[in-house]
Amino acid sequence: DTLSDRSVAAVAEFIKSGRAKQIVVMTGAGISTAAGIPDFRSPNTGLYNNLARLDLPHPEAVFEIDFFRYNPRPFYVLAKELYPGNFHPTISHAFVALLAKKKLLRMLFTQNIDCLERAAGVPPELIVEAHGSFATQRCIDCKTPFPDAEMRKCVESASPPNCVRKECGGLVKPDIVFFGEQLPNTFFANATVPREADLVIVVGTSLMVHPFAGLPRLARDGVPRLLFNMERVGDFGTRADDVLYLGECDDGIRKLVDELGWGDELEKMWVE
Ligand code: OAD
Repeated sequence: DTLSDRSVAAVAEFIKSGRAKQIVVMTGAGISTAAGIPDFRSPNTGLYNNLARLDLPHPEAVFEIDFFRYNPRPFYVLAKELYPGNFHPTISHAFVALLAKKKLLRMLFTQNIDCLERAAGVPPELIVEAHGSFATQRCIDCKTPFPDAEMRKCVESASPPNCVRKECGGLVKPDIVFFGEQLPNTFFANATVPREADLVIVVGTSLMVHPFAGLPRLARDGVPRLLFNMERVGDFGTRADDVLYLGECDDGIRKLVDELGWGDELEKMWVE
């Protein structure tokens, strides 16, 4: 086994020994719940449990491209609540930025569309936004980009905008990936990076949505995989060097950081 035991302390020891220089981090909605953004699948608090008011055929329809064409309003109601700018990064986001500062971050794969990893100071070139983001938007038909400032207004009033080309008039959607859409090229261009990892850290995801969910399995044999999540997910626990911290990710990250002796540095990174 690579680790002395299956504990957060053993992972800290592994990092301190200098054997983790290509850390790959994979995140989902659970990393942002402490920032006040609901996740999708948590019972009671998850978005999919609280969409009844939007009159959807089923919860996931709010992110389905065919339903969006039929009725874009529910998505815009949700977009208003999720729009970046209203939230601050968590301590877990700051930790990823700290790894980058220490030149230990090979890459961050995120499923989140809240842009909080950028806000926390993770360099954009190290972030793969696998499900896109709210940073840009375009017409779903002719793909013509739509201006940011206009978009902000439309999201604030939850009113779906139409293409700037009058003769097109198609619906405009933020460049977040809906069910039934391809992931961005950057995802596929970097999809083999997890094979180069010497440590994999997964934070706050149910690992239910593919192809993202397959990334942790790409870690080579003997490469430690550390999970910070409320529940066990994916195939975590099946490998000798898997470490599972089941609880609030911010608590787990603080524990790791304390073991590393990086506590003060982390607090400084944490822009609140
Ligand atoms: P999910 O809501 O499916 O999973 C969030 C996970 O984080 C769950 O396992 C929670 O238990 C855990 N969690 C929540 N809060 C936590 C906390 N404070 N600390 C630790 N763990 C916590 O969210 P994702 O896995 O990100 O796709 O969902 C994946 C994709 O499904 C999303 O990107 C979205 C959605 O449909 C699209 O919109 C295309």
